[in-house]
Amino acid sequence: MKPLLIAGNWKSNKGIAEAKEWVRQFNAKCQMLNAKWDHITVVLCVPFTLVYPLKREISQLRLPVQLGAQDVSPFGEGAYTGEVSATQIKELADWVIIGHSERRKYFGETDEVLMQKVAQAKAAGLKIIFCVPDDKTPIPADVDVAAYEPVWAIGTGYADTPENAATVIATLKQKFSIRQVLYGGSVTAENVVSFVAQPAIDGVLPGGASLDAAKFFDLLTAAQSIP
Ligand code: 13P
Repeated sequence: MKPLLIAGNWKSNKGIAEAKEWVRQFNAKCQMLNAKWDHITVVLCVPFTLVYPLKREISQLRLPVQLGAQDVSPFGEGAYTGEVSATQIKELADWVIIGHSERRKYFGETDEVLMQKVAQAKAAGLKIIFCVPDDKTPIPADVDVAAYEPVWAIGTGYADTPENAATVIATLKQKFSIRQVLYGGSVTAENVVSFVAQPAIDGVLPGGASLDAAKFFDLLTAAQSIP
């Protein structure tokens, strides 16, 4: 079976009570169906405020889910008001998303600042999911996993075709010597198989479909079915 990485991105959604309810529902599904994701690494990338409460819930229930942040400071610890450093994240989570198109668009993040973020995350031992909107945007050398997320497919319900996503991902792999690349943009339980069945695609990065525990569970179950 092909190893897959499936990382849910909650973006700026949910308070603590809602996050706990998500875990309760997800756990109930896992128990009921005796679910195991043998070849799928499951990651939830959540707002900073939810990392600690979710870490507690997930470890208490021994859920096979790893945690990630959605951003990281380009600086180390120090006088950088409002920022969360990579070492602070690493105390609670193993993963971080860097370069999401929403950060590039709404927060003006440049390739240069993203390089600094990657350097900080790498030095702290975080695993990085680096997002790019196309096969022309550079991927820094230290990145573990990249994600191809065409801007027009994010949150629109119009996913890229699996064939085109696979072509872009194959180009990214060749150009930037990166081994693992995900697809993101309107991925659902209904279309996930068409993406992960493509040999070049190593997993998916769902946003909306990760917010609902049952939908996310169904997405994992569907992905698990590929040979
Ligand atoms: P949607 O799955 O909601 O389109 O979001 C994709 C995304 O931006 C994940 O990072």
